[in-house]
Amino acid sequence: MNILILGGGGREHSLAWAVMQNPKCDRLIVAPGNAGIAGIAECASLDLENGGAVAEFAVANSIDFVVVGPEAPLVAGVADRLREAGILCFGPSQAAARLEASKYFTKEICDACGAPTAAWARFTDAGSAKAHIHEHFSARTAEGGAPNAAAPIVVKADGLAVGKGVIVAIDEANAQEAVDEMFGGAFGAAGAEVVIEEFMEGEEASLFVLCDGENVLPIGTAQDHKRVGEGDTGPNTGGMGAYSPAPVLEGAVMQRAMNEIVRPCVAEMARRGTPYEGVLYAGLMISDGVPRLVEYNVRFGDPETQALMMRLGAQALDLMLACAEARLDEACVNWADDHAMTVVMAARGYPGAYEKGSVIGGLDTVAEDSGHMVFHAGTVLRDGQVVASGGRVLNATARGATLAEARERAYGLVDGIDWPQGFHRRDIGWRAAADH
Ligand code: AMP
Ligand code: GLY
Repeated sequence: MNILILGGGGREHSLAWAVMQNPKCDRLIVAPGNAGIAGIAECASLDLENGGAVAEFAVANSIDFVVVGPEAPLVAGVADRLREAGILCFGPSQAAARLEASKYFTKEICDACGAPTAAWARFTDAGSAKAHIHEHFSARTAEGGAPNAAAPIVVKADGLAVGKGVIVAIDEANAQEAVDEMFGGAFGAAGAEVVIEEFMEGEEASLFVLCDGENVLPIGTAQDHKRVGEGDTGPNTGGMGAYSPAPVLEGAVMQRAMNEIVRPCVAEMARRGTPYEGVLYAGLMISDGVPRLVEYNVRFGDPETQALMMRLGAQALDLMLACAEARLDEACVNWADDHAMTVVMAARGYPGAYEKGSVIGGLDTVAEDSGHMVFHAGTVLRDGQVVASGGRVLNATARGATLAEARERAYGLVDGIDWPQGFHRRDIGWRAAADH
Protein backbone atom coordinates (compact mmCIF):
# COMPACT_ATOMS: atom_id res chain seq x y z
CA MET A 1 0.00 0.00 0.00
CA ASN A 2 0.99 3.60 -0.62
CA ILE A 3 0.08 5.64 2.43
CA LEU A 4 -0.10 9.39 3.02
CA ILE A 5 -0.11 10.89 6.52
CA LEU A 6 -1.09 14.55 6.89
CA GLY A 7 0.73 16.50 9.59
CA GLY A 8 4.22 17.18 10.85
CA GLY A 9 4.36 16.89 14.63
CA GLY A 10 5.29 14.25 17.18
CA ARG A 11 1.89 12.63 16.76
CA GLU A 12 2.55 12.13 13.05
CA HIS A 13 6.13 10.92 13.62
CA SER A 14 4.81 8.22 15.96
CA LEU A 15 2.01 7.29 13.52
CA ALA A 16 4.57 7.08 10.69
CA TRP A 17 6.88 4.97 12.86
CA ALA A 18 4.07 2.51 13.67
CA VAL A 19 2.80 2.36 10.07
CA MET A 20 6.32 1.74 8.71
CA GLN A 21 6.64 -1.37 10.88
CA ASN A 22 3.67 -2.97 9.17
CA PRO A 23 4.59 -5.03 6.10
CA LYS A 24 1.42 -3.78 4.36
CA CYS A 25 3.10 -0.39 3.95
CA ASP A 26 5.18 -0.20 0.75
CA ARG A 27 5.59 3.55 0.50
CA LEU A 28 4.90 6.27 3.06
CA ILE A 29 4.66 10.00 2.38
CA VAL A 30 4.13 12.48 5.21
CA ALA A 31 3.10 16.07 4.50
CA PRO A 32 4.76 18.25 5.65
CA GLY A 33 6.69 15.93 8.01
CA ASN A 34 9.76 17.09 9.96
CA ALA A 35 13.45 16.21 10.39
CA GLY A 36 12.68 13.02 12.32
CA ILE A 37 10.00 11.85 9.90
CA ALA A 38 12.39 12.51 6.99
CA GLY A 39 14.59 9.76 8.46
CA ILE A 40 11.91 7.08 7.96
CA ALA A 41 9.56 8.34 5.21
CA GLU A 42 9.31 10.73 2.27
CA CYS A 43 8.20 14.25 3.13
CA ALA A 44 6.15 16.45 0.83
CA SER A 45 4.82 19.95 0.99
CA LEU A 46 1.07 20.28 0.62
CA ASP A 47 -1.69 22.73 1.59
CA LEU A 48 -3.30 20.52 4.27
CA GLU A 49 -6.57 22.45 4.43
CA ASN A 50 -7.17 22.38 0.68
CA GLY A 51 -9.12 19.16 0.12
CA GLY A 52 -8.92 19.45 -3.65
CA ALA A 53 -5.13 19.78 -3.55
CA VAL A 54 -4.76 16.86 -1.11
CA ALA A 55 -7.00 14.62 -3.26
CA GLU A 56 -5.09 15.58 -6.42
CA PHE A 57 -1.77 14.82 -4.71
CA ALA A 58 -3.10 11.46 -3.50
CA VAL A 59 -4.28 10.47 -6.97
CA ALA A 60 -1.01 11.63 -8.62
CA ASN A 61 1.00 9.53 -6.13
CA SER A 62 -1.23 6.42 -6.31
CA ILE A 63 -2.05 6.73 -2.62
CA ASP A 64 -4.28 3.93 -1.28
CA PHE A 65 -4.87 5.25 2.22
CA VAL A 66 -4.71 8.68 3.86
CA VAL A 67 -4.39 9.20 7.63
CA VAL A 68 -5.28 12.72 8.74
CA GLY A 69 -3.33 13.81 11.86
CA PRO A 70 -4.54 17.29 12.90
CA GLU A 71 -8.07 18.65 13.27
CA ALA A 72 -7.81 21.64 10.91
CA PRO A 73 -7.93 19.60 7.66
CA LEU A 74 -10.86 17.54 9.02
CA VAL A 75 -12.80 20.65 9.96
CA ALA A 76 -12.02 22.02 6.48
CA GLY A 77 -13.59 18.92 4.87
CA VAL A 78 -10.45 17.21 3.57
CA ALA A 79 -11.76 13.72 4.42
CA ASP A 80 -14.95 14.46 2.41
CA ARG A 81 -12.91 15.51 -0.67
CA LEU A 82 -10.75 12.38 -0.41
CA ARG A 83 -13.76 10.06 -0.15
CA GLU A 84 -15.41 11.82 -3.11
CA ALA A 85 -12.22 11.09 -5.07
CA GLY A 86 -12.55 7.40 -4.10
CA ILE A 87 -9.57 7.41 -1.73
CA LEU A 88 -9.74 5.49 1.54
CA CYS A 89 -9.34 7.89 4.44
CA PHE A 90 -8.94 7.71 8.22
CA GLY A 91 -10.69 10.73 9.72
CA PRO A 92 -14.23 12.07 10.11
CA SER A 93 -16.26 14.11 7.63
CA GLN A 94 -16.58 17.85 8.08
CA ALA A 95 -20.06 17.37 9.53
CA ALA A 96 -18.81 14.82 12.10
CA ALA A 97 -15.72 16.96 12.89
CA ARG A 98 -18.12 19.47 14.48
CA LEU A 99 -17.62 17.38 17.62
CA GLU A 100 -14.34 19.30 17.94
CA ALA A 101 -15.13 22.42 15.91
CA SER A 102 -18.09 23.49 18.07
CA LYS A 103 -18.35 23.08 21.83
CA TYR A 104 -22.04 23.96 21.62
CA PHE A 105 -22.65 21.18 19.09
CA THR A 106 -21.00 18.62 21.40
CA LYS A 107 -23.07 19.78 24.35
CA GLU A 108 -26.21 19.46 22.29
CA ILE A 109 -25.27 15.91 21.21
CA CYS A 110 -24.60 14.97 24.85
CA ASP A 111 -27.98 16.32 25.94
CA ALA A 112 -29.76 14.58 23.07
CA CYS A 113 -28.41 11.16 24.14
CA GLY A 114 -28.12 11.73 27.89
CA ALA A 115 -24.31 11.57 28.08
CA PRO A 116 -23.07 13.07 31.36
CA THR A 117 -21.19 16.37 30.99
CA ALA A 118 -20.95 19.73 32.79
CA ALA A 119 -24.14 21.83 32.91
CA TRP A 120 -23.91 24.53 30.25
CA ALA A 121 -25.48 27.49 28.49
CA ARG A 122 -24.66 29.07 25.13
CA PHE A 123 -24.57 32.77 24.24
CA THR A 124 -24.22 34.78 21.06
CA ASP A 125 -23.79 38.19 22.71
CA ALA A 126 -21.76 39.52 25.64
CA GLY A 127 -24.71 41.12 27.45
CA SER A 128 -26.68 37.92 28.01
CA ALA A 129 -23.52 35.92 28.82
CA LYS A 130 -22.56 38.44 31.49
CA ALA A 131 -26.09 38.53 32.90
CA HIS A 132 -25.95 34.71 33.16
CA ILE A 133 -22.63 34.86 35.03
CA HIS A 134 -23.93 37.53 37.40
CA GLU A 135 -27.04 35.50 38.12
CA HIS A 136 -24.96 32.36 38.72
CA PHE A 137 -22.78 34.12 41.30
CA SER A 138 -25.56 36.08 43.03
CA ALA A 139 -27.82 33.02 43.34
CA ARG A 140 -25.14 31.31 45.41
CA THR A 141 -24.54 34.42 47.54
CA ALA A 142 -28.30 34.71 48.12
CA GLU A 143 -28.29 31.13 49.44
CA GLY A 144 -25.83 32.32 52.07
CA GLY A 145 -22.60 31.37 50.27
CA ALA A 146 -19.45 33.45 50.52
CA PRO A 147 -18.73 35.90 47.69
CA ASN A 148 -17.51 33.82 44.76
CA ALA A 149 -18.72 30.58 46.37
CA ALA A 150 -19.96 29.74 42.87
CA ALA A 151 -16.41 29.86 41.44
CA PRO A 152 -14.80 28.55 39.42
CA ILE A 153 -16.90 28.77 36.31
CA VAL A 154 -15.67 27.82 32.85
CA VAL A 155 -15.94 30.18 29.87
CA LYS A 156 -15.25 28.70 26.42
CA ALA A 157 -15.02 30.12 22.92
CA ASP A 158 -17.28 27.86 20.84
CA GLY A 159 -14.91 27.24 17.93
CA LEU A 160 -11.34 26.04 17.34
CA ALA A 161 -8.87 28.22 19.23
CA VAL A 162 -5.71 26.04 19.15
CA GLY A 163 -6.27 24.89 22.71
CA LYS A 164 -6.47 28.44 24.09
CA GLY A 165 -10.20 29.23 24.08
CA VAL A 166 -10.97 27.88 27.57
CA ILE A 167 -10.84 30.10 30.65
CA VAL A 168 -11.37 28.55 34.08
CA ALA A 169 -12.49 31.76 35.83
CA ILE A 170 -11.65 32.04 39.52
CA ASP A 171 -14.23 34.75 40.32
CA GLU A 172 -17.05 36.74 38.78
CA ALA A 173 -14.83 39.57 37.51
CA ASN A 174 -12.51 37.08 35.85
CA ALA A 175 -15.45 35.36 34.13
CA GLN A 176 -16.91 38.69 32.90
CA GLU A 177 -13.49 39.65 31.55
CA ALA A 178 -13.21 36.34 29.66
CA VAL A 179 -16.60 36.98 28.04
CA ASP A 180 -15.54 40.48 26.93
CA GLU A 181 -12.30 39.11 25.52
CA MET A 182 -14.05 36.39 23.55
CA PHE A 183 -16.74 38.60 22.08
CA GLY A 184 -14.04 41.26 21.56
CA GLY A 185 -12.36 38.95 19.06
CA ALA A 186 -9.42 37.60 21.12
CA PHE A 187 -10.01 34.18 19.53
CA GLY A 188 -11.26 35.42 16.17
CA ALA A 189 -14.34 33.77 14.72
CA ALA A 190 -14.03 30.98 17.33
CA GLY A 191 -15.32 33.44 19.94
CA ALA A 192 -18.42 34.57 18.08
CA GLU A 193 -20.35 32.20 20.33
CA VAL A 194 -19.51 31.36 23.91
CA VAL A 195 -20.37 28.37 26.10
CA ILE A 196 -20.42 28.84 29.87
CA GLU A 197 -20.05 25.68 31.91
CA GLU A 198 -20.15 24.30 35.39
CA PHE A 199 -16.64 23.52 36.68
CA MET A 200 -16.12 19.78 37.16
CA GLU A 201 -13.86 18.48 39.91
CA GLY A 202 -11.87 15.32 39.45
CA GLU A 203 -8.97 13.76 37.60
CA GLU A 204 -8.69 14.13 33.82
CA ALA A 205 -7.88 11.29 31.46
CA SER A 206 -8.33 10.56 27.77
CA LEU A 207 -9.96 7.62 26.04
CA PHE A 208 -9.18 6.86 22.39
CA VAL A 209 -11.90 5.04 20.48
CA LEU A 210 -11.97 3.98 16.83
CA CYS A 211 -15.40 4.43 15.25
CA ASP A 212 -16.47 3.26 11.79
CA GLY A 213 -19.81 5.03 11.82
CA GLU A 214 -21.49 2.18 13.65
CA ASN A 215 -19.00 0.03 15.57
CA VAL A 216 -16.67 1.32 18.27
CA LEU A 217 -13.35 -0.10 19.49
CA PRO A 218 -11.44 1.44 22.40
CA ILE A 219 -7.71 1.36 21.61
CA GLY A 220 -6.21 2.87 24.73
CA THR A 221 -6.27 5.37 27.55
CA ALA A 222 -3.77 8.09 28.45
CA GLN A 223 -3.15 11.05 30.69
CA ASP A 224 -1.20 14.14 29.77
CA HIS A 225 0.32 17.00 31.72
CA LYS A 226 -1.01 20.29 30.36
CA ARG A 227 0.81 22.75 32.62
CA VAL A 228 4.33 23.85 31.76
CA GLY A 229 5.80 23.53 35.26
CA GLU A 230 6.59 20.67 37.61
CA GLY A 231 3.81 19.79 40.05
CA ASP A 232 1.34 20.80 37.30
CA THR A 233 1.88 24.54 37.79
CA GLY A 234 2.20 27.51 35.43
CA PRO A 235 0.51 28.26 32.13
CA ASN A 236 -1.26 25.68 29.98
CA THR A 237 0.57 24.13 27.05
CA GLY A 238 -0.32 21.65 24.33
CA GLY A 239 0.97 18.96 26.73
CA MET A 240 4.39 18.44 28.37
CA GLY A 241 4.25 14.66 28.56
CA ALA A 242 1.86 11.74 28.67
CA TYR A 243 1.57 8.12 29.65
CA SER A 244 -0.61 5.17 28.74
CA PRO A 245 -2.55 3.45 30.20
CA ALA A 246 -4.27 5.91 32.56
CA PRO A 247 -4.79 4.02 35.84
CA VAL A 248 -7.81 6.22 36.72
CA LEU A 249 -9.62 5.06 33.57
CA GLU A 250 -9.06 1.32 33.73
CA GLY A 251 -11.65 -1.46 33.92
CA ALA A 252 -15.14 -0.52 35.03
CA VAL A 253 -14.59 3.23 34.63
CA MET A 254 -13.67 2.78 30.98
CA GLN A 255 -16.68 0.51 30.41
CA ARG A 256 -18.87 3.14 31.96
CA ALA A 257 -17.36 5.89 29.75
CA MET A 258 -17.98 3.69 26.69
CA ASN A 259 -21.55 2.79 27.63
CA GLU A 260 -22.73 6.13 29.00
CA ILE A 261 -20.78 8.60 26.84
CA VAL A 262 -19.08 7.28 23.70
CA ARG A 263 -21.63 4.73 22.44
CA PRO A 264 -24.68 7.00 22.89
CA CYS A 265 -22.92 9.95 21.20
CA VAL A 266 -21.74 7.82 18.26
CA ALA A 267 -25.29 6.43 17.88
CA GLU A 268 -26.71 9.98 17.98
CA MET A 269 -24.28 11.09 15.23
CA ALA A 270 -25.39 8.15 13.06
CA ARG A 271 -29.06 8.89 13.76
CA ARG A 272 -28.54 12.44 12.49
CA GLY A 273 -27.09 11.16 9.21
CA THR A 274 -23.56 12.29 10.07
CA PRO A 275 -21.91 9.05 11.24
CA TYR A 276 -18.56 9.45 13.00
CA GLU A 277 -15.65 7.69 11.28
CA GLY A 278 -12.12 7.91 12.64
CA VAL A 279 -10.60 8.16 16.09
CA LEU A 280 -12.73 9.83 18.73
CA TYR A 281 -10.70 11.29 21.58
CA ALA A 282 -12.87 11.63 24.65
CA GLY A 283 -11.46 14.00 27.29
CA LEU A 284 -13.03 12.84 30.56
CA MET A 285 -13.25 14.13 34.12
CA ILE A 286 -13.38 11.28 36.61
CA SER A 287 -14.63 11.75 40.12
CA ASP A 288 -15.28 8.81 42.49
CA GLY A 289 -15.10 6.43 39.54
CA VAL A 290 -17.74 8.34 37.57
CA PRO A 291 -16.64 9.73 34.18
CA ARG A 292 -18.14 12.87 32.63
CA LEU A 293 -17.26 14.35 29.25
CA VAL A 294 -15.06 17.46 29.16
CA GLU A 295 -14.68 17.57 25.40
CA TYR A 296 -14.27 15.53 22.25
CA ASN A 297 -11.44 15.85 19.78
CA VAL A 298 -11.79 14.32 16.34
CA ARG A 299 -8.16 13.21 16.03
CA PHE A 300 -5.43 11.54 18.02
CA GLY A 301 -4.04 13.51 20.98
CA ASP A 302 -0.58 15.00 20.94
CA PRO A 303 1.54 13.89 22.88
CA GLU A 304 -0.74 11.00 24.05
CA THR A 305 -0.45 9.28 20.66
CA GLN A 306 3.31 8.98 21.00
CA ALA A 307 2.78 6.77 24.08
CA LEU A 308 -0.13 4.95 22.46
CA MET A 309 1.77 4.12 19.24
CA MET A 310 4.72 2.86 21.26
CA ARG A 311 2.34 0.30 22.77
CA LEU A 312 0.35 -0.58 19.64
CA GLY A 313 3.22 -0.73 17.11
CA ALA A 314 2.51 -2.18 13.65
CA GLN A 315 -1.11 -3.18 14.43
CA ALA A 316 -2.02 0.53 14.47
CA LEU A 317 -2.18 0.42 10.67
CA ASP A 318 -4.44 -2.67 10.63
CA LEU A 319 -6.75 -1.01 13.15
CA MET A 320 -6.95 2.27 11.21
CA LEU A 321 -7.62 0.32 7.99
CA ALA A 322 -10.38 -1.73 9.64
CA CYS A 323 -11.86 1.55 10.85
CA ALA A 324 -11.75 3.24 7.43
CA GLU A 325 -13.19 0.12 5.73
CA ALA A 326 -16.03 -0.18 8.29
CA ARG A 327 -14.77 -3.57 9.50
CA LEU A 328 -14.27 -2.69 13.15
CA ASP A 329 -16.66 -5.42 14.23
CA GLU A 330 -13.99 -7.93 13.07
CA ALA A 331 -11.05 -6.09 14.63
CA CYS A 332 -9.47 -6.51 18.03
CA VAL A 333 -6.52 -4.93 19.81
CA ASN A 334 -3.67 -7.18 20.89
CA TRP A 335 -2.60 -5.64 24.14
CA ALA A 336 0.70 -6.31 25.77
CA ASP A 337 0.36 -5.73 29.49
CA ASP A 338 2.76 -2.78 29.24
CA HIS A 339 3.11 0.94 29.88
CA ALA A 340 4.53 3.78 27.82
CA MET A 341 5.55 7.32 28.59
CA THR A 342 6.54 10.31 26.50
CA VAL A 343 8.43 13.33 27.83
CA VAL A 344 8.19 16.55 25.83
CA MET A 345 11.35 18.57 25.31
CA ALA A 346 10.38 22.15 24.53
CA ALA A 347 12.21 25.34 23.56
CA ARG A 348 12.99 27.64 26.52
CA GLY A 349 10.22 30.23 26.81
CA TYR A 350 7.43 27.92 25.57
CA PRO A 351 4.41 28.35 25.81
CA GLY A 352 5.39 32.04 25.60
CA ALA A 353 7.88 33.45 23.12
CA TYR A 354 10.79 31.15 22.25
CA GLU A 355 13.64 31.08 19.77
CA LYS A 356 13.87 28.82 16.77
CA GLY A 357 16.97 27.53 15.06
CA SER A 358 19.06 26.08 17.92
CA VAL A 359 21.02 22.95 17.03
CA ILE A 360 20.07 19.67 18.76
CA GLY A 361 22.90 17.23 19.48
CA GLY A 362 23.01 13.65 20.70
CA LEU A 363 20.24 12.34 18.44
CA ASP A 364 22.66 10.02 16.59
CA THR A 365 23.88 8.37 19.76
CA VAL A 366 20.63 7.71 21.68
CA ALA A 367 19.72 4.06 21.35
CA GLU A 368 16.39 3.70 19.55
CA ASP A 369 14.49 0.45 19.04
CA SER A 370 10.94 -0.88 19.21
CA GLY A 371 10.69 0.23 22.83
CA HIS A 372 12.63 3.51 22.77
CA MET A 373 12.13 6.39 20.35
CA VAL A 374 12.78 10.09 20.27
CA PHE A 375 9.90 11.34 18.14
CA HIS A 376 10.34 14.74 16.55
CA ALA A 377 7.63 17.34 17.07
CA GLY A 378 9.13 20.60 15.85
CA THR A 379 12.40 20.09 13.98
CA VAL A 380 13.84 20.82 10.55
CA LEU A 381 17.10 19.81 8.86
CA ARG A 382 19.49 22.68 8.19
CA ASP A 383 22.90 22.02 6.62
CA GLY A 384 22.70 18.41 7.73
CA GLN A 385 21.92 19.33 11.35
CA VAL A 386 18.65 18.94 13.23
CA VAL A 387 17.44 22.33 14.49
CA ALA A 388 14.45 23.30 16.62
CA SER A 389 11.59 24.86 14.68
CA GLY A 390 8.73 24.93 17.16
CA GLY A 391 7.74 25.21 20.82
CA ARG A 392 7.41 21.51 21.52
CA VAL A 393 10.44 20.00 19.79
CA LEU A 394 11.13 16.38 20.79
CA ASN A 395 9.16 13.59 22.49
CA ALA A 396 11.36 11.07 24.30
CA THR A 397 9.17 7.98 24.38
CA ALA A 398 9.69 4.55 25.93
CA ARG A 399 7.85 1.39 26.88
CA GLY A 400 8.28 -0.79 29.96
CA ALA A 401 6.69 -3.58 31.96
CA THR A 402 5.70 -0.99 34.56
CA LEU A 403 5.12 2.74 34.44
CA ALA A 404 8.26 3.22 36.55
CA GLU A 405 10.33 1.31 33.99
CA ALA A 406 8.85 3.25 31.05
CA ARG A 407 9.57 6.46 32.89
CA GLU A 408 13.17 5.55 33.68
CA ARG A 409 13.77 4.65 30.04
CA ALA A 410 12.09 7.80 28.69
CA TYR A 411 14.25 9.99 30.94
CA GLY A 412 17.28 7.95 29.85
CA LEU A 413 16.55 9.13 26.30
CA VAL A 414 16.06 12.72 27.48
CA ASP A 415 19.42 12.65 29.23
CA GLY A 416 21.14 11.52 26.03
CA ILE A 417 20.01 14.64 24.15
CA ASP A 418 22.35 17.61 24.05
CA TRP A 419 20.17 20.69 23.69
CA PRO A 420 20.95 23.52 26.12
CA GLN A 421 18.21 25.73 24.62
CA GLY A 422 15.53 23.21 25.60
CA PHE A 423 13.76 22.27 28.83
CA HIS A 424 11.47 19.50 30.07
CA ARG A 425 9.57 18.47 33.17
CA ARG A 426 11.20 15.80 35.36
CA ASP A 427 7.92 14.68 36.97
CA ILE A 428 5.84 13.26 34.12
CA GLY A 429 3.61 10.51 35.50
CA TRP A 430 3.88 11.65 39.13
CA ARG A 431 0.19 11.18 39.81
CA ALA A 432 0.03 7.62 38.50
CA ALA A 433 3.31 6.79 40.20
CA ALA A 434 1.95 8.09 43.51
CA ASP A 435 -1.31 6.14 43.18
CA HIS A 436 0.23 2.83 42.11
P1 AMP B 1 -10.98 21.81 26.49
O1 AMP B 1 -10.31 22.64 25.42
O2 AMP B 1 -12.45 21.80 26.46
O3 AMP B 1 -10.31 20.49 26.66
O4 AMP B 1 -10.57 22.53 27.85
C1 AMP B 1 -9.22 22.64 28.22
C2 AMP B 1 -9.04 22.21 29.64
O5 AMP B 1 -9.83 23.03 30.49
C3 AMP B 1 -9.50 20.80 29.91
O6 AMP B 1 -8.54 19.87 29.58
C4 AMP B 1 -9.79 20.89 31.39
O7 AMP B 1 -8.58 20.79 32.12
C5 AMP B 1 -10.33 22.27 31.56
N1 AMP B 1 -11.80 22.24 31.53
C6 AMP B 1 -12.59 22.46 30.45
N2 AMP B 1 -13.89 22.37 30.79
C7 AMP B 1 -13.93 22.09 32.11
C8 AMP B 1 -15.00 21.90 33.06
N3 AMP B 1 -16.26 22.01 32.72
N4 AMP B 1 -14.64 21.64 34.34
C9 AMP B 1 -13.35 21.56 34.70
N5 AMP B 1 -12.32 21.75 33.88
C10 AMP B 1 -12.59 22.01 32.59
N1 GLY C 1 -2.86 16.65 24.38
C1 GLY C 1 -4.06 17.33 24.14
C2 GLY C 1 -4.53 17.37 22.74
O1 GLY C 1 -4.01 16.71 21.87
O2 GLY C 1 -5.50 18.07 22.49
